This record gives sequence, C-alpha cells and structure tokens, in this order.
Amino acid sequence: MNKKSDHIDQTKSYAEDLVKVYNAEKAKRKELEEARNALERKNEELKKEKEQLRIYAEDFKNLYEKLLVANSAIKKANIETIYRLSVAAEYRDNETAAHIKRVSEYAKIISSTMELDAETIENIKLASPMHDIGKIGISDAVLLKQGKYTDVEYEQMKEHANIGHLILENSNSTVLQLADSIALTHHEKYDGTGYPRKLKRDEIPVEGRIAAIADVYDALSTKRPYKKAFSKSETLKIMTQGKGTHFDPHIFDSFMDSLEVIEVYQSKH
Ligand SMILES: [Fe+2]
Ligand SMILES: [Fe+2]
Repeated sequence: MNKKSDHIDQTKSYAEDLVKVYNAEKAKRKELEEARNALERKNEELKKEKEQLRIYAEDFKNLYEKLLVANSAIKKANIETIYRLSVAAEYRDNETAAHIKRVSEYAKIISSTMELDAETIENIKLASPMHDIGKIGISDAVLLKQGKYTDVEYEQMKEHANIGHLILENSNSTVLQLADSIALTHHEKYDGTGYPRKLKRDEIPVEGRIAAIADVYDALSTKRPYKKAFSKSETLKIMTQGKGTHFDPHIFDSFMDSLEVIEVYQSKH
C-alpha cells in the first residue's frame, strides 16, 4: 500500500517537474519571441533610417551638382570678363583678342611641361591675358605711335608694367594675384636688364618668366602693324639668342619642348 502511495507521489513530483520545465520553456520561448519582435522592430527602424539617409544623400548630391553647375557658370563668366577686359586694354594698341588668347594658351602649354601643379597651370593660363592691361593708362600719342620711340616715349611706354600692377594689386583672388605678378614682371629679363624693376633670375616670379617667353614668341611669329611675321627659323634664332639673357634658360628648354604643341595651336588660331 505504501509502495503504491510512494509511486503516486513520485509520479506527481515528475508531473510537477514536467509542468515546471514546460512553463520554463514557455517563458523562454516568450522571451525569445519578444527579443525577435524587438529585433524586427529595430531592423525596421534601421531600414527607415537607412532610407532617410539615402534620401538625404540624394538631396545632397542634387544640391552639390547644382552648386557645381552654378560654380562653373561663375567661373566661365569670370574667364570671359578677364578676356573682355584684356581685349579692352589691347584694343587701342592694335593687338588683338587672338594675341591674348594665344599668349594665354602658350603660357599654359609651357607651364604644363614644368613641375607645376594642375591648378597653378590653369591659373597661369587665366592670368596671362592681363599681362598688358596697364596699356590702358598709356597715352594714344605713345601707344599708337607708328615710328620709333624717343627715349622719353619709351620710358612712358614702359610704365604699362607698373600701371598693370597698380590695377591688379591687393586682390584676394589667386588668379588676380598671378595676373598682378605677370603684368609687373613680363618685361623683366633673366640677366637683370629688363624693366620696370631690373629683377634678375629667380627674383622674377616663375609666371613672369613663362609669360615673357609666350608673349615674345607670339609678337615675333605674328604680323603686327609695324612688322611682318617672322618665319619660324627667324623667330627661333632671335629667341635662342635670348636664352639665359632675356629668358630663363630652363623655361626656354620647356618652351622648345612644347614648340610642336604651340605650333599646332597657333595654326588653328
Ligand atoms: Fe607688355
Ligand atoms: Fe602682349
């Protein structure tokens, strides 16, 4: 009888244990279910955040593209203004817009064969058209004179470098700072016999040394009211004589290395 009762107790205890295990399992499942739901909710939130970020990125990209277009329009307008002002300065002098564009392009081509970064090369190209902007301050009597200059007239003409400097100095713009430097120094000579400051060698900023070669090459190789266009060999003969005296010999070598590209451009403009 006792044995039977023990057996029943034991069975009851097993049953209770089973119920406990079952309940524990059930609680665990519930916990897991809740954790899974929380994870799903989190995932959903992340998905929404990701989508929001994608929309922001898309908006930002659109805005950035619009900004690039606007910037490029401003840059184009700036470049055009530079050319038109430079043409205004050269207009009375019978020099043409084509001269300005060629000098600008030659300066870029020569700079490209030197160890200069891309931005500086581009800025030199943009700045060189303004090399003679100071001619705007030279009287017609001197600027338009057909015959040879007297010493006094020559001194007055030389002032265009200083006047260009006065027009362009103290700008915050890198291009205008370069233009200032080129206007002031494009008639300096490597041996110190140029004007207006008789600077020599490295005292002449590199952009001035480059512009000097580009300007003289174009002046010699094209027709002017007071002279015919020199042939290629005459032009190069005269220029080579200036290597190391008028022109920086290293930049002159860069110019000679660039000559083929320069001639291709020249033949089309
Ligand atoms: Fe000049
Ligand atoms: Fe010029």
